[in-house]
Amino acid sequence: MIQNPKRYTVTAALIYANGPIHIGHLAGCYIPADIYVRYLRAKGADVLFVSGTDEHGVPITIRAQKEGITPQEVVDKYYTQIRDSFAEFGISFDIYSRTSKKVHHETSQEFFKDLYDKGVFVEEVSQQYYDEKAGQFLADRYIVGTCPNCGNPNAYGDQCERCGSTLSPMELINPHSMLSGGKPVLKSTKNWYLPLDKMQPQIEEYIASHPEWKVNVAGQCQSWLKQGLQPRAMTRDLDWGIQVPLPDTEGKVLYVWFEAPIGYISATKDYFTAKKMGAAPELYTAPVPETTTPGDWEVYWKAKDTKLVHFIGKDNIVFHCIIFPATLMAEGSYILPENVPANEFMNLEGDKISTSRNWAVWLHEYLAEFPGQQDVLRYVLTTNAPETKDNEFTWKDFQTKNNSELASNLGNFVNRIITLTHKYYKGEVPVRGELFDIDRELIEALAKAPAEIAEAIENYRFREGLSLLMDISRMGNKYLADTEPWKKIKDDPERVKTILNLSAQVVANLAVLSEPFLPFTSQKIYDMLNIPILRWGQAGSVNLIPDGQVFGAAEILFSQIEDATIQAQVKKLEDSKKANELASKTVAPAKEAVTFDDFQKMDIRVATILAAEAVPKTQKLLKLTLDTGLDQRTVVSGIAEHYKPEEIIGKQVCLLANLAPRDIKGISSQGMILMAENIDGKLAFVSPTTLIINGGTVR
Ligand code: 2FM
Ligand code: ZN
Repeated sequence: MIQNPKRYTVTAALIYANGPIHIGHLAGCYIPADIYVRYLRAKGADVLFVSGTDEHGVPITIRAQKEGITPQEVVDKYYTQIRDSFAEFGISFDIYSRTSKKVHHETSQEFFKDLYDKGVFVEEVSQQYYDEKAGQFLADRYIVGTCPNCGNPNAYGDQCERCGSTLSPMELINPHSMLSGGKPVLKSTKNWYLPLDKMQPQIEEYIASHPEWKVNVAGQCQSWLKQGLQPRAMTRDLDWGIQVPLPDTEGKVLYVWFEAPIGYISATKDYFTAKKMGAAPELYTAPVPETTTPGDWEVYWKAKDTKLVHFIGKDNIVFHCIIFPATLMAEGSYILPENVPANEFMNLEGDKISTSRNWAVWLHEYLAEFPGQQDVLRYVLTTNAPETKDNEFTWKDFQTKNNSELASNLGNFVNRIITLTHKYYKGEVPVRGELFDIDRELIEALAKAPAEIAEAIENYRFREGLSLLMDISRMGNKYLADTEPWKKIKDDPERVKTILNLSAQVVANLAVLSEPFLPFTSQKIYDMLNIPILRWGQAGSVNLIPDGQVFGAAEILFSQIEDATIQAQVKKLEDSKKANELASKTVAPAKEAVTFDDFQKMDIRVATILAAEAVPKTQKLLKLTLDTGLDQRTVVSGIAEHYKPEEIIGKQVCLLANLAPRDIKGISSQGMILMAENIDGKLAFVSPTTLIINGGTVR
């Protein structure tokens, strides 16, 4: 364990560029990483925050097939959307790169070649699943089947999303191809394996040297080690990816989980190359922080006093804690991850977040629908962060947390101080006088807060850190309620000066300490206080704002969120659930062919409903009187659950007029109304779209 790191390399998972990002991604990895990095920067630490998109692997090609576009078009489209959403949301990457960049292809190939030359890989010809129809090997997600661990019938060849276990295609029960749906055959192919089995002692030693890792992370590692590590292929027979850098390997690419983490390294290289050349490429979402020492990329990856921390979601644990460290160990010149503070999953309104089922809150939609409210989502996702177990996001909770915590606690406190200072002192901070016990208690509590919050952040307990932050404004509100400056202003105006001076110092502390969690709010507070950005180390003091400082205008930090806004979001989710249910049902199978003569036998006419009434003692039947142009007649129709009698009078419908009369509940029904049935069983009239004479024929 590094005691006093000189610098930090912090990475956040390279998300597949195969779809937009949602709140699950944010809560699982990007918000915690951003809090950590912003805190380090506020402390003045040398930190590089690296991320980007993972643009290879089967998830990309599957998406391309679904959308009917090329894999390159998929990654170009989503790279831009993902990068922009993160930037707008304030995730302060120093670099947001992509694994399709030349530097990444070269770096990964060099890495592979280096391990190959060192004799690390085991070359093996083995039988792999192959789809004869598609003419392709079925790696990873190209094959689905039943999970041997939990029975999920839709487990992928690399992973079961239900139980989280990592799989290989050979372990699937009843495997079938994602491409043709057919049963795959076995075919021989050569691949290069990382002998994790032989490396187990080294990996065990490495993991044992980190007893401080989170329980959920350590637990997954232990369970892998207990099962005994297996050699894992680092190449795949696919045509989308990074070409294996060996002769006669056409159609073979590097395994995405071999090259993607190397993406952190190649992005760092690219960053420093561009910096040396004075370029400001579009992939840097944040300006190069002043705290970052210009230097060679290797310092951030090879110096022993660099602390490397990977933020990821729980589905990536094994890759970052076992497989990537194993490749780094085999190469030999890199530092190993010091911590991998993975979160569990965030569920949504009682169900797992799912891209394919559109059960998600998409970041780009949130940004459009809640403009300027990034911090509300940051707050809610942090207070509910799935730090130790899966957790849940609900819109009701989002509203409650905004209204009764952010608006009523933090926003209210800051607003009262700025407003009262304007009201009593024309916005100038008054000089404080004699202190009483209540003031000294406030000062003492404030002095302790930065270290307490820092301790929580440094140990990846971001929920706790944020809760401690909110305690400060809660304490400020209580201080105001206890000291009542609005009453004292008449009989003890000197005392009010002290109260407002100290309260203003609390607000300044909130500006500093909220920055990692709520950066937009922090900036607004700084703007109201009209003071320059402070360092973390300055917080805890009541001398942050000089006497006589002139405040800017008061601004509302958080507005109330109305019920209607929340209901609209819940309805959107319900609608997508319904749409999914409909899509998952299939239409009735086709019937046997009929001749034109068969069709001609049916006398279908346009008719108008003159009267309608429920058939007594039935749920489904309506008795209709129709003007058919030929006559007026009675037809009994099973539509009572879909239409009320009074709704349909005057409606033109189509009638099978020559259906032999039938007796239904003692009524002679002379024909049948044509209805269209939806997949969910809903009935609708088949009606002419313009007025047709009654008796007009349908043909
Ligand atoms: O699970 C994913 O979305 C992977 N693309 C994460 C890769 S993280 C790292 F290895 F680059
Ligand atoms: Zn499973």
